[in-house]
Amino acid sequence: MTDHLTVVTHPLVQHKLTIMRDKDTPTAVFRQLLREISQLLAYEITRELRMTTKRIETPLEPMDAPTLDGKKLALISILRAGNGLLDGVLELIPSARVGFVGLYRDEETLQPVQYYFKVPEGLNDRLVIAVDPMLATGNSSAAAVDLLKGAGATDIRFLCLLAAPEGVARMKEAHPDVPIVTAALDSHLNEKGYIVPGLGDAGDRMFGTK
Ligand code: URA
Repeated sequence: MTDHLTVVTHPLVQHKLTIMRDKDTPTAVFRQLLREISQLLAYEITRELRMTTKRIETPLEPMDAPTLDGKKLALISILRAGNGLLDGVLELIPSARVGFVGLYRDEETLQPVQYYFKVPEGLNDRLVIAVDPMLATGNSSAAAVDLLKGAGATDIRFLCLLAAPEGVARMKEAHPDVPIVTAALDSHLNEKGYIVPGLGDAGDRMFGTK
């Protein structure tokens, strides 16, 4: 991917996102839509995967048919909200290896604090897709990517549902080599670090914790 930021404007993505933003949308519907959107976003983020051909025989004749070139993938969920995106992407790419980065945001400083890190071996050989629905300040996303680079990853993409301009700028400054794919670029962050207009706390909305 060449662009640092790709906003997926596909009508299905935008329609589903509008329902997710609505504060009256119930948890079960929110979760289902997140799963569906994550697959549409995954479609976009994997658009340029390398291809090769393999010889097969259809019922009619042999052919050299397109197939993925086999660069292995690792999906990294940034806990806890990342898991909502992870499930859908994993359905589309079931052979991907999966890792988890546990970071929570200190509500006063808005800085990320690490509490868990477990990723597949050989990250340097893999295309690494980090998933987190909300790119807000970008502090935890940048910290997660720091950790992934520290573990050897060199080819990283970042998949989110919503991005704030502040988060995109932070990522561009810290990790200009990491393309971002999102469903929308919202207006700004509020004083608590929430994306506006946003959809609220993604974790709470998908897990029904509030
Ligand atoms: N995390 C969320 O869940 N929502 C926001 O708006 C910002 C960060």
